[in-house]
Amino acid sequence: MERLMITGQVPLKGEVEVHGAKNSSLPLLAAAVLCHGQTVLHNCPDLSDVAAACEILSYLGCRVEREGRTVLIDTEGICRHSVPDSLMREMRSSIVFLGAIAARMGRAELCFPGGCELGPRPIDLHLSALRKLGLSIREEHGNLLCRTDGRMTGTSLSLSFPSVGATENILLAAATAQGRTILTNAAREPEIVDLAGFLNQCGARISGAGEGTIVIDGVETLHGCEHRVIPDRIVAATFLSCAACTGGDVLVKQVEPAHLAGVLPIFEEMGCHVRCYADAVHLKAPGRLRAVKDVRTMPYPGFPTDAQAPIMAAAAVAEGTSVFVENIFESRYKHAAELTRMGARIKLEGKVALVEGVPKLSGAEVFCTDLRGGAALVAAGLCAEGTTILREIHHIDRGYERIEEALRPLGAQILREDSTF
Ligand code: UD1
Repeated sequence: MERLMITGQVPLKGEVEVHGAKNSSLPLLAAAVLCHGQTVLHNCPDLSDVAAACEILSYLGCRVEREGRTVLIDTEGICRHSVPDSLMREMRSSIVFLGAIAARMGRAELCFPGGCELGPRPIDLHLSALRKLGLSIREEHGNLLCRTDGRMTGTSLSLSFPSVGATENILLAAATAQGRTILTNAAREPEIVDLAGFLNQCGARISGAGEGTIVIDGVETLHGCEHRVIPDRIVAATFLSCAACTGGDVLVKQVEPAHLAGVLPIFEEMGCHVRCYADAVHLKAPGRLRAVKDVRTMPYPGFPTDAQAPIMAAAAVAEGTSVFVENIFESRYKHAAELTRMGARIKLEGKVALVEGVPKLSGAEVFCTDLRGGAALVAAGLCAEGTTILREIHHIDRGYERIEEALRPLGAQILREDSTF
Protein backbone atom coordinates (compact mmCIF):
# COMPACT_ATOMS: atom_id res chain seq x y z
CA MET A 1 0.00 0.00 0.00
CA GLU A 2 1.44 3.35 -0.95
CA ARG A 3 0.64 6.75 0.49
CA LEU A 4 1.57 10.35 -0.20
CA MET A 5 3.11 12.51 2.52
CA ILE A 6 2.60 16.21 1.86
CA THR A 7 4.00 19.09 3.87
CA GLY A 8 2.01 22.15 2.92
CA GLN A 9 2.14 25.92 2.77
CA VAL A 10 4.85 26.16 0.13
CA PRO A 11 3.74 28.46 -2.73
CA LEU A 12 4.27 26.53 -5.97
CA LYS A 13 6.57 28.25 -8.45
CA GLY A 14 7.93 27.27 -11.86
CA GLU A 15 6.83 25.25 -14.87
CA VAL A 16 5.00 21.95 -15.15
CA GLU A 17 4.06 19.88 -18.21
CA VAL A 18 0.73 18.17 -18.71
CA HIS A 19 0.57 14.63 -20.09
CA GLY A 20 -1.87 13.27 -22.67
CA ALA A 21 -5.54 12.94 -21.79
CA LYS A 22 -6.66 9.73 -20.07
CA ASN A 23 -10.20 10.28 -21.32
CA SER A 24 -8.95 10.47 -24.92
CA SER A 25 -6.49 7.60 -24.63
CA LEU A 26 -9.15 5.08 -23.55
CA PRO A 27 -11.52 5.54 -26.53
CA LEU A 28 -8.51 5.81 -28.88
CA LEU A 29 -7.21 2.45 -27.65
CA ALA A 30 -10.71 1.03 -28.16
CA ALA A 31 -10.76 2.56 -31.67
CA ALA A 32 -7.53 0.74 -32.50
CA VAL A 33 -9.60 -2.48 -32.40
CA LEU A 34 -11.34 -1.30 -35.59
CA CYS A 35 -8.10 -0.67 -37.48
CA HIS A 36 -6.39 -3.27 -39.63
CA GLY A 37 -2.62 -3.19 -39.23
CA GLN A 38 -0.71 -1.00 -36.81
CA THR A 39 -1.80 2.02 -34.82
CA VAL A 40 0.71 4.22 -33.01
CA LEU A 41 -0.49 6.56 -30.26
CA HIS A 42 1.94 9.22 -29.04
CA ASN A 43 1.54 11.18 -25.78
CA CYS A 44 -0.38 8.26 -24.29
CA PRO A 45 0.05 8.59 -20.49
CA ASP A 46 1.38 5.78 -18.34
CA LEU A 47 -1.64 5.40 -16.04
CA SER A 48 -3.29 2.39 -14.45
CA ASP A 49 -6.52 2.97 -16.45
CA VAL A 50 -4.52 3.07 -19.70
CA ALA A 51 -2.69 -0.11 -18.66
CA ALA A 52 -6.09 -1.76 -18.12
CA ALA A 53 -7.18 -0.74 -21.64
CA CYS A 54 -3.92 -2.18 -23.03
CA GLU A 55 -4.60 -5.41 -21.12
CA ILE A 56 -8.02 -5.63 -22.79
CA LEU A 57 -6.33 -5.25 -26.20
CA SER A 58 -3.78 -7.98 -25.37
CA TYR A 59 -6.57 -10.26 -24.18
CA LEU A 60 -8.40 -9.74 -27.48
CA GLY A 61 -5.27 -10.98 -29.25
CA CYS A 62 -3.67 -7.67 -30.26
CA ARG A 63 0.05 -7.03 -29.96
CA VAL A 64 0.59 -4.04 -27.66
CA GLU A 65 3.97 -2.43 -27.02
CA ARG A 66 4.76 0.66 -24.99
CA GLU A 67 7.91 2.73 -25.27
CA GLY A 68 7.79 5.81 -23.05
CA ARG A 69 4.55 7.56 -23.89
CA THR A 70 4.17 5.86 -27.27
CA VAL A 71 1.92 2.82 -27.56
CA LEU A 72 1.87 0.58 -30.64
CA ILE A 73 -1.12 -1.67 -31.29
CA ASP A 74 -1.19 -4.35 -33.99
CA THR A 75 -4.60 -5.97 -34.41
CA GLU A 76 -3.72 -8.66 -36.95
CA GLY A 77 -3.88 -11.42 -34.31
CA ILE A 78 -7.25 -10.32 -32.88
CA CYS A 79 -9.21 -13.49 -32.09
CA ARG A 80 -11.43 -12.89 -29.03
CA HIS A 81 -14.58 -10.82 -28.61
CA SER A 82 -14.98 -10.65 -24.84
CA VAL A 83 -13.63 -8.46 -22.04
CA PRO A 84 -12.79 -10.31 -18.80
CA ASP A 85 -14.99 -9.33 -15.84
CA SER A 86 -11.96 -8.37 -13.76
CA LEU A 87 -10.98 -5.71 -16.31
CA MET A 88 -14.56 -4.45 -16.64
CA ARG A 89 -14.68 -4.05 -12.87
CA GLU A 90 -11.25 -2.43 -12.67
CA MET A 91 -12.27 0.27 -15.13
CA ARG A 92 -15.94 0.87 -15.74
CA SER A 93 -15.24 2.98 -18.80
CA SER A 94 -14.17 -0.28 -20.55
CA ILE A 95 -17.75 -0.17 -21.84
CA VAL A 96 -16.33 2.01 -24.63
CA PHE A 97 -14.82 -1.19 -26.10
CA LEU A 98 -18.32 -2.53 -26.78
CA GLY A 99 -19.01 -0.67 -30.04
CA ALA A 100 -15.54 -1.32 -31.39
CA ILE A 101 -15.40 -5.05 -30.59
CA ALA A 102 -18.90 -5.65 -31.96
CA ALA A 103 -18.08 -3.77 -35.18
CA ARG A 104 -14.78 -5.58 -35.75
CA MET A 105 -15.71 -9.10 -34.58
CA GLY A 106 -19.48 -9.23 -35.25
CA ARG A 107 -19.98 -10.18 -31.58
CA ALA A 108 -19.06 -8.88 -28.16
CA GLU A 109 -19.45 -10.18 -24.63
CA LEU A 110 -18.83 -8.17 -21.52
CA CYS A 111 -20.31 -7.85 -18.09
CA PHE A 112 -22.48 -4.93 -17.02
CA PRO A 113 -20.19 -2.20 -15.63
CA GLY A 114 -22.38 -1.58 -12.55
CA GLY A 115 -22.17 1.44 -10.24
CA CYS A 116 -19.06 3.22 -9.03
CA GLU A 117 -17.75 5.83 -6.58
CA LEU A 118 -19.68 8.54 -8.41
CA GLY A 119 -23.02 6.76 -8.00
CA PRO A 120 -24.97 4.65 -10.51
CA ARG A 121 -23.36 4.52 -13.96
CA PRO A 122 -26.20 3.51 -16.30
CA ILE A 123 -25.39 2.56 -19.90
CA ASP A 124 -28.95 2.68 -21.24
CA LEU A 125 -28.04 5.36 -23.78
CA HIS A 126 -25.13 3.26 -25.12
CA LEU A 127 -27.31 0.16 -25.43
CA SER A 128 -30.35 1.75 -27.04
CA ALA A 129 -28.18 3.52 -29.64
CA LEU A 130 -26.24 0.34 -30.48
CA ARG A 131 -29.51 -1.59 -30.77
CA LYS A 132 -30.80 1.03 -33.23
CA LEU A 133 -27.61 0.51 -35.26
CA GLY A 134 -28.63 -3.14 -35.59
CA LEU A 135 -26.67 -4.75 -32.77
CA SER A 136 -28.69 -7.44 -31.03
CA ILE A 137 -27.98 -7.23 -27.29
CA ARG A 138 -29.14 -9.81 -24.75
CA GLU A 139 -28.78 -8.96 -21.08
CA GLU A 140 -28.26 -12.21 -19.15
CA HIS A 141 -26.99 -12.80 -15.59
CA GLY A 142 -25.23 -9.43 -15.52
CA ASN A 143 -23.64 -9.99 -18.93
CA LEU A 144 -24.18 -8.31 -22.27
CA LEU A 145 -24.22 -10.76 -25.17
CA CYS A 146 -24.07 -8.87 -28.44
CA ARG A 147 -24.23 -10.01 -32.02
CA THR A 148 -24.62 -8.50 -35.47
CA ASP A 149 -25.17 -10.24 -38.80
CA GLY A 150 -22.63 -8.54 -41.00
CA ARG A 151 -22.08 -4.79 -40.66
CA MET A 152 -24.29 -2.64 -38.47
CA THR A 153 -26.58 -0.18 -40.28
CA GLY A 154 -26.45 3.60 -40.12
CA THR A 155 -29.52 5.39 -38.78
CA SER A 156 -30.72 8.59 -37.12
CA LEU A 157 -29.99 8.74 -33.39
CA SER A 158 -30.68 11.33 -30.74
CA LEU A 159 -29.30 11.22 -27.20
CA SER A 160 -31.58 12.43 -24.38
CA PHE A 161 -28.38 13.62 -22.61
CA PRO A 162 -25.06 14.33 -24.37
CA SER A 163 -23.24 11.36 -22.79
CA VAL A 164 -19.53 11.29 -23.57
CA GLY A 165 -19.23 7.50 -23.43
CA ALA A 166 -22.39 6.88 -25.47
CA THR A 167 -21.22 9.33 -28.16
CA GLU A 168 -17.89 7.48 -28.30
CA ASN A 169 -19.54 4.08 -28.57
CA ILE A 170 -21.77 5.37 -31.38
CA LEU A 171 -18.80 6.80 -33.30
CA LEU A 172 -16.95 3.49 -32.95
CA ALA A 173 -19.93 1.38 -34.03
CA ALA A 174 -21.08 3.66 -36.85
CA ALA A 175 -17.65 4.31 -38.40
CA THR A 176 -17.78 0.97 -40.26
CA ALA A 177 -21.58 0.58 -40.40
CA GLN A 178 -23.42 0.46 -43.71
CA GLY A 179 -24.74 3.88 -44.68
CA ARG A 180 -25.12 7.17 -42.86
CA THR A 181 -25.63 7.76 -39.14
CA ILE A 182 -26.84 11.15 -37.96
CA LEU A 183 -26.37 11.69 -34.24
CA THR A 184 -28.06 14.65 -32.56
CA ASN A 185 -27.43 15.99 -29.05
CA ALA A 186 -23.97 14.44 -29.22
CA ALA A 187 -21.37 15.20 -26.54
CA ARG A 188 -19.06 18.03 -27.67
CA GLU A 189 -16.04 17.35 -25.45
CA PRO A 190 -12.53 17.75 -26.93
CA GLU A 191 -12.05 14.00 -26.43
CA ILE A 192 -14.87 13.39 -28.94
CA VAL A 193 -13.12 15.65 -31.45
CA ASP A 194 -9.86 13.76 -30.84
CA LEU A 195 -11.55 10.39 -31.40
CA ALA A 196 -13.30 11.52 -34.60
CA GLY A 197 -10.04 13.05 -35.89
CA PHE A 198 -8.23 9.78 -35.24
CA LEU A 199 -10.95 7.72 -36.96
CA ASN A 200 -10.90 10.03 -39.99
CA GLN A 201 -7.11 9.58 -40.27
CA CYS A 202 -7.81 5.84 -40.31
CA GLY A 203 -10.20 6.23 -43.26
CA ALA A 204 -13.52 7.03 -41.53
CA ARG A 205 -15.87 9.76 -42.80
CA ILE A 206 -17.10 11.70 -39.78
CA SER A 207 -18.09 15.36 -39.76
CA GLY A 208 -19.44 17.68 -37.09
CA ALA A 209 -17.51 16.31 -34.08
CA GLY A 210 -17.38 19.06 -31.44
CA GLU A 211 -20.87 20.20 -32.45
CA GLY A 212 -24.26 18.94 -31.38
CA THR A 213 -24.87 16.98 -34.59
CA ILE A 214 -22.37 14.47 -35.92
CA VAL A 215 -22.71 12.78 -39.32
CA ILE A 216 -20.94 9.46 -39.85
CA ASP A 217 -20.78 7.93 -43.30
CA GLY A 218 -19.84 4.33 -42.72
CA VAL A 219 -16.85 2.89 -44.58
CA GLU A 220 -16.03 -0.77 -45.15
CA THR A 221 -12.74 -0.95 -43.26
CA LEU A 222 -10.31 1.23 -41.34
CA HIS A 223 -6.52 1.12 -41.32
CA GLY A 224 -4.12 2.08 -38.54
CA CYS A 225 -2.40 5.46 -38.30
CA GLU A 226 -0.09 7.53 -36.11
CA HIS A 227 -1.80 9.96 -33.76
CA ARG A 228 -0.89 12.28 -30.88
CA VAL A 229 -3.30 12.28 -27.91
CA ILE A 230 -4.56 15.74 -26.87
CA PRO A 231 -3.35 17.21 -23.55
CA ASP A 232 -5.27 16.31 -20.40
CA ARG A 233 -7.40 19.36 -19.58
CA ILE A 234 -8.34 17.99 -16.14
CA VAL A 235 -4.70 17.45 -15.13
CA ALA A 236 -4.09 21.03 -16.30
CA ALA A 237 -7.01 22.30 -14.18
CA THR A 238 -5.67 20.34 -11.19
CA PHE A 239 -2.18 21.86 -11.47
CA LEU A 240 -3.75 25.33 -11.80
CA SER A 241 -5.79 24.68 -8.67
CA CYS A 242 -2.66 23.58 -6.76
CA ALA A 243 -0.97 26.81 -7.87
CA ALA A 244 -4.02 28.90 -6.90
CA CYS A 245 -4.52 27.52 -3.41
CA THR A 246 -0.83 27.74 -2.46
CA GLY A 247 -0.54 31.39 -3.56
CA GLY A 248 1.71 30.19 -6.37
CA ASP A 249 3.04 31.43 -9.70
CA VAL A 250 3.07 28.60 -12.24
CA LEU A 251 3.30 28.11 -16.00
CA VAL A 252 1.33 25.01 -16.99
CA LYS A 253 2.77 23.80 -20.29
CA GLN A 254 1.65 21.44 -23.08
CA VAL A 255 -2.00 22.36 -22.75
CA GLU A 256 -4.69 23.49 -25.17
CA PRO A 257 -5.97 26.71 -23.53
CA ALA A 258 -9.21 26.61 -25.55
CA HIS A 259 -10.12 23.34 -23.80
CA LEU A 260 -9.95 25.17 -20.46
CA ALA A 261 -12.42 27.90 -21.41
CA GLY A 262 -14.95 26.67 -18.84
CA VAL A 263 -12.39 26.62 -16.02
CA LEU A 264 -10.12 29.65 -16.42
CA PRO A 265 -12.83 32.27 -15.65
CA ILE A 266 -13.33 30.58 -12.25
CA PHE A 267 -9.66 31.14 -11.36
CA GLU A 268 -9.97 34.76 -12.52
CA GLU A 269 -13.07 35.21 -10.35
CA MET A 270 -11.00 33.90 -7.45
CA GLY A 271 -8.59 36.78 -8.04
CA CYS A 272 -5.88 34.90 -9.95
CA HIS A 273 -4.06 36.53 -12.82
CA VAL A 274 -4.40 34.14 -15.77
CA ARG A 275 -2.64 34.46 -19.11
CA CYS A 276 -2.95 32.08 -22.05
CA TYR A 277 -0.21 31.33 -24.59
CA ALA A 278 -0.37 29.07 -27.66
CA ASP A 279 0.13 25.89 -25.63
CA ALA A 280 0.52 27.06 -22.04
CA VAL A 281 -1.37 28.85 -19.27
CA HIS A 282 0.28 31.07 -16.68
CA LEU A 283 -1.44 31.55 -13.32
CA LYS A 284 -0.36 33.90 -10.55
CA ALA A 285 -2.42 33.68 -7.39
CA PRO A 286 -3.28 36.59 -5.07
CA GLY A 287 -2.38 36.67 -1.35
CA ARG A 288 -5.81 35.22 -0.55
CA LEU A 289 -8.28 33.74 -3.01
CA ARG A 290 -11.85 35.08 -3.25
CA ALA A 291 -14.91 32.84 -3.18
CA VAL A 292 -16.69 31.97 -6.44
CA LYS A 293 -20.38 32.74 -6.71
CA ASP A 294 -21.48 29.79 -8.73
CA VAL A 295 -19.65 26.73 -10.06
CA ARG A 296 -22.16 24.66 -12.05
CA THR A 297 -20.90 21.49 -13.69
CA MET A 298 -22.21 21.14 -17.22
CA PRO A 299 -21.47 19.22 -20.41
CA TYR A 300 -18.65 20.81 -22.48
CA PRO A 301 -18.10 23.70 -23.09
CA GLY A 302 -19.45 24.28 -19.57
CA PHE A 303 -17.48 23.78 -16.36
CA PRO A 304 -16.33 20.11 -16.28
CA THR A 305 -17.52 17.85 -13.47
CA ASP A 306 -14.01 16.37 -13.30
CA ALA A 307 -12.60 19.74 -12.21
CA GLN A 308 -15.21 20.28 -9.47
CA ALA A 309 -13.26 18.52 -6.70
CA PRO A 310 -9.83 20.06 -7.39
CA ILE A 311 -11.36 23.54 -7.48
CA MET A 312 -13.32 22.91 -4.29
CA ALA A 313 -9.94 22.58 -2.52
CA ALA A 314 -9.12 26.14 -3.62
CA ALA A 315 -12.58 27.39 -2.60
CA ALA A 316 -12.02 25.85 0.85
CA VAL A 317 -9.34 28.49 1.59
CA ALA A 318 -10.94 31.42 -0.29
CA GLU A 319 -12.43 34.43 1.44
CA GLY A 320 -16.23 34.12 1.49
CA THR A 321 -18.69 31.39 0.59
CA SER A 322 -18.54 29.54 -2.73
CA VAL A 323 -21.48 27.68 -4.23
CA PHE A 324 -21.05 24.47 -6.24
CA VAL A 325 -23.83 22.73 -8.15
CA GLU A 326 -23.03 19.23 -9.43
CA ASN A 327 -25.33 18.51 -12.36
CA ILE A 328 -23.60 15.52 -13.99
CA PHE A 329 -23.10 12.82 -11.34
CA GLU A 330 -25.32 12.00 -8.37
CA SER A 331 -22.69 11.28 -5.81
CA ARG A 332 -19.69 13.41 -6.53
CA TYR A 333 -19.02 15.15 -3.20
CA LYS A 334 -17.30 12.32 -1.32
CA HIS A 335 -14.11 14.39 -1.06
CA ALA A 336 -16.05 17.01 0.96
CA ALA A 337 -15.95 14.84 4.10
CA GLU A 338 -12.18 14.38 3.77
CA LEU A 339 -11.65 18.12 3.18
CA THR A 340 -13.71 18.71 6.33
CA ARG A 341 -11.23 16.58 8.30
CA MET A 342 -8.62 19.10 7.19
CA GLY A 343 -10.66 22.00 8.58
CA ALA A 344 -12.74 22.92 5.53
CA ARG A 345 -16.31 24.12 6.16
CA ILE A 346 -18.58 22.47 3.62
CA LYS A 347 -22.35 21.98 3.75
CA LEU A 348 -23.94 19.55 1.33
CA GLU A 349 -27.54 19.53 0.23
CA GLY A 350 -28.30 17.26 -2.71
CA LYS A 351 -26.46 18.55 -5.73
CA VAL A 352 -25.39 21.78 -3.94
CA ALA A 353 -22.24 22.30 -1.86
CA LEU A 354 -21.71 25.49 0.12
CA VAL A 355 -18.04 26.04 0.85
CA GLU A 356 -17.33 28.66 3.49
CA GLY A 357 -13.66 29.51 3.05
CA VAL A 358 -11.34 29.29 6.06
CA PRO A 359 -8.00 31.15 6.39
CA LYS A 360 -6.09 27.86 6.43
CA LEU A 361 -6.52 24.11 6.34
CA SER A 362 -4.59 21.83 8.65
CA GLY A 363 -2.77 18.66 7.64
CA ALA A 364 -4.51 15.38 8.52
CA GLU A 365 -4.69 11.74 7.55
CA VAL A 366 -7.20 11.51 4.71
CA PHE A 367 -8.42 8.93 2.21
CA CYS A 368 -8.89 9.32 -1.52
CA THR A 369 -12.46 8.41 -2.33
CA ASP A 370 -12.16 8.57 -6.11
CA LEU A 371 -9.81 9.87 -8.79
CA ARG A 372 -10.61 13.60 -8.83
CA GLY A 373 -11.49 13.64 -5.14
CA GLY A 374 -7.95 12.36 -4.55
CA ALA A 375 -6.55 15.20 -6.65
CA ALA A 376 -8.52 17.67 -4.50
CA LEU A 377 -6.85 16.26 -1.39
CA VAL A 378 -3.40 16.71 -2.97
CA ALA A 379 -4.23 20.39 -3.60
CA ALA A 380 -5.59 20.73 -0.06
CA GLY A 381 -2.49 19.05 1.41
CA LEU A 382 -0.23 21.43 -0.51
CA CYS A 383 -1.86 24.49 1.05
CA ALA A 384 -2.53 23.05 4.53
CA GLU A 385 -0.46 23.79 7.59
CA GLY A 386 1.61 20.78 8.65
CA THR A 387 1.66 17.29 7.17
CA THR A 388 -1.08 15.50 5.29
CA ILE A 389 -1.00 11.73 4.89
CA LEU A 390 -2.94 10.67 1.83
CA ARG A 391 -4.10 7.05 1.60
CA GLU A 392 -5.83 4.96 -1.11
CA ILE A 393 -3.76 6.79 -3.71
CA HIS A 394 -4.35 4.11 -6.35
CA HIS A 395 -7.36 6.26 -7.25
CA ILE A 396 -5.02 9.14 -8.16
CA ASP A 397 -2.76 6.87 -10.21
CA ARG A 398 -5.70 6.10 -12.49
CA GLY A 399 -5.49 9.57 -13.97
CA TYR A 400 -2.25 11.36 -12.93
CA GLU A 401 1.15 10.09 -13.99
CA ARG A 402 3.30 10.02 -10.82
CA ILE A 403 1.72 13.23 -9.52
CA GLU A 404 4.42 13.74 -6.88
CA GLU A 405 7.16 13.84 -9.54
CA ALA A 406 5.23 16.44 -11.55
CA LEU A 407 4.69 18.71 -8.53
CA ARG A 408 8.07 18.42 -6.78
CA PRO A 409 9.98 20.63 -9.27
CA LEU A 410 7.47 23.40 -8.39
CA GLY A 411 8.69 23.26 -4.79
CA ALA A 412 5.96 20.95 -3.49
CA GLN A 413 7.04 18.86 -0.54
CA ILE A 414 5.40 15.62 -1.52
CA LEU A 415 6.74 12.08 -1.20
CA ARG A 416 5.38 8.67 -2.09
CA GLU A 417 6.03 6.07 0.58
CA ASP A 418 5.36 2.39 0.98
CA SER A 419 3.32 1.75 4.06
CA THR A 420 2.50 -1.57 5.60
CA PHE A 421 -0.11 -0.23 8.00
C1 UD1 B 1 -16.83 10.61 -19.14
C2 UD1 B 1 -15.47 10.75 -18.50
C3 UD1 B 1 -15.61 11.23 -17.05
C4 UD1 B 1 -16.43 12.52 -17.01
C5 UD1 B 1 -17.76 12.34 -17.74
C6 UD1 B 1 -18.57 13.62 -17.85
C7 UD1 B 1 -14.14 9.03 -19.59
C8 UD1 B 1 -13.41 7.75 -19.46
N1 UD1 B 1 -14.82 9.46 -18.51
O1 UD1 B 1 -17.54 9.61 -18.40
O2 UD1 B 1 -14.31 11.46 -16.53
O3 UD1 B 1 -16.68 12.85 -15.66
O4 UD1 B 1 -17.52 11.86 -19.08
O5 UD1 B 1 -17.84 14.59 -18.48
O6 UD1 B 1 -14.11 9.70 -20.61
N2 UD1 B 1 -25.71 8.52 -18.34
C9 UD1 B 1 -26.90 7.83 -18.40
N3 UD1 B 1 -27.00 6.79 -19.28
C10 UD1 B 1 -25.98 6.42 -20.10
C11 UD1 B 1 -24.76 7.14 -20.04
C12 UD1 B 1 -24.66 8.19 -19.14
O7 UD1 B 1 -27.83 8.12 -17.66
O8 UD1 B 1 -26.15 5.48 -20.88
C13 UD1 B 1 -25.56 9.64 -17.36
C14 UD1 B 1 -24.49 9.31 -16.30
O9 UD1 B 1 -24.99 8.56 -15.26
C15 UD1 B 1 -24.06 10.69 -15.89
C16 UD1 B 1 -24.19 11.51 -17.16
O10 UD1 B 1 -25.05 10.77 -18.02
O11 UD1 B 1 -24.96 11.18 -14.92
C17 UD1 B 1 -22.86 11.77 -17.85
O12 UD1 B 1 -22.25 10.58 -18.17
P1 UD1 B 1 -21.27 10.42 -19.42
O13 UD1 B 1 -21.14 11.71 -20.16
O14 UD1 B 1 -21.69 9.22 -20.17
O15 UD1 B 1 -19.90 10.13 -18.69
P2 UD1 B 1 -18.87 8.99 -19.00
O16 UD1 B 1 -18.71 8.81 -20.46
O17 UD1 B 1 -19.20 7.80 -18.16
